[in-house]
Amino acid sequence: MSTAVVILAAGRGSRMNSDLPKVLHTLAGAPLVAHALRTAQALEPERIVVVTGHESLRVEQAVAEWDADAVTVTQTEQLGTAHAVLQAREALAGFEGDIIVLYADTPLVRSETLARMTDARRNGAAVVVLGFETVSPFGYGRLVTGPDNNLEAIIEEHEATPEQKEIRLCNSGVLAADSQTLFSLLDAVENNNSKGEYYLTDIVARARETNLTAEVITCPMQETLGINSRQELAEAEAVFQSRARLEALENGVTMTDPATVWFGFDTMIGRDVTVAPNVFFGPGVTIESGAKILAFCHLEGCHVSRGSTVGPFARLRPGAELAEDTHVGNFVEIKNSIVDAGTKINHLSYIGDADIGHGTNIGAGTITCNYDGVFKHRTVIGSQVFVGSNSALVAPVTIGSNAMIAAGSTITEDVDPASLAIARSRQVTKRGLGKRLMDALRAKKPGLVKH
Ligand code: UD1
Ligand code: CA
Repeated sequence: MSTAVVILAAGRGSRMNSDLPKVLHTLAGAPLVAHALRTAQALEPERIVVVTGHESLRVEQAVAEWDADAVTVTQTEQLGTAHAVLQAREALAGFEGDIIVLYADTPLVRSETLARMTDARRNGAAVVVLGFETVSPFGYGRLVTGPDNNLEAIIEEHEATPEQKEIRLCNSGVLAADSQTLFSLLDAVENNNSKGEYYLTDIVARARETNLTAEVITCPMQETLGINSRQELAEAEAVFQSRARLEALENGVTMTDPATVWFGFDTMIGRDVTVAPNVFFGPGVTIESGAKILAFCHLEGCHVSRGSTVGPFARLRPGAELAEDTHVGNFVEIKNSIVDAGTKINHLSYIGDADIGHGTNIGAGTITCNYDGVFKHRTVIGSQVFVGSNSALVAPVTIGSNAMIAAGSTITEDVDPASLAIARSRQVTKRGLGKRLMDALRAKKPGLVKH
């Protein structure tokens, strides 16, 4: 059975109190709408349609960035969730199969849960709704079930009778139905309710009127957490993080204090990686098996290969590629650089826009001066090079393999392989002058006690 996904993302999200549209606020480093797209992609649907409205241009840009194949349609006036889904009709012309509706502000739904919904569809239910149980159902649509446990109607908070308000089985917003059935049910939805909106949830009652069956699939409430405020966004982040931590532990990652390790939405960590406390992974991080990330590191857009050690207190920025068995130590920042196997950058360095060969040692305090104020330039360092401490390598510059750079050098010209480059002023030592000068100075300060 083919599937299409409609993602509702037109709402303003006024309770976020933000200039940024709600669905572009980020969770684990990716915008909410991207989470919905990723959930949708996991189902390998034939089409994905995103309904945008508030700040539609910005939302469309984000959608294109995260899924080049997704189609966006605009809902110019937010007349309700049923009206929003109807905007996708044209984009779904010619599609035959199931439509799954997702809300972009509900980013934690698992694709496994959606798969259970499509199973229920296959077993014959015309409309399948994802529900959850809660002791505090206020604000959610209530799921009214019949004696056979089938779904009879969804009643919104505003329309619910006192008895219906007691119902603890609630609507997540996610639903699945055959495309033709869904659109003909949507055509029958009216807006004669207290909010004057076209409720998507009304399709259940419309379905029952024509003797179509509706069924509820339930999942834990955590999965259906809807984000309407920054507080809920922070709650969702906490849920995401605890899931990611658990998953990492199950996948064989060692973490002594998982609660202090922060994952990105796409962090990839191999087996037997050790992650010490207080480590932050931004988007796009891959850590291969057996690597060690020591305490207080900040990593994003980088790749750490097997056997490497990073930290404590290291920062890997986008484009940092560490090959096997590299060592990156404390207060080292690496950006857009390739570091080959066995190379060590152990203390207090900035390495930006550089290629470094294998077995090279970058001394403490080495800086690649990659920026001239306008343009960025590359530094190329060969293999088995020894860069002495506190060297400044002014790019563009190339240092050949097996070369040596004397400590404290400022290198502005290329260094041939196997050469020693010294680029600092020569030392002058005057015998005895140190003590003589100091004695003269001390003599000028009255009452100085000498130890
Ligand atoms: C909705 C459900 C409710 C459910 C709850 C779960 C309806 C009528 N009610 O209520 O049963 O328990 O979600 O969180 O569906 N949107 C549009 N266009 C519109 C209106 C909304 O795209 O015209 C989008 C919003 O951006 C949002 C989603 O639809 O992503 C849900 O809308 P929202 O107004 O938050 O619905 P709730 O009142 O939370
Ligand atoms: Ca909502």
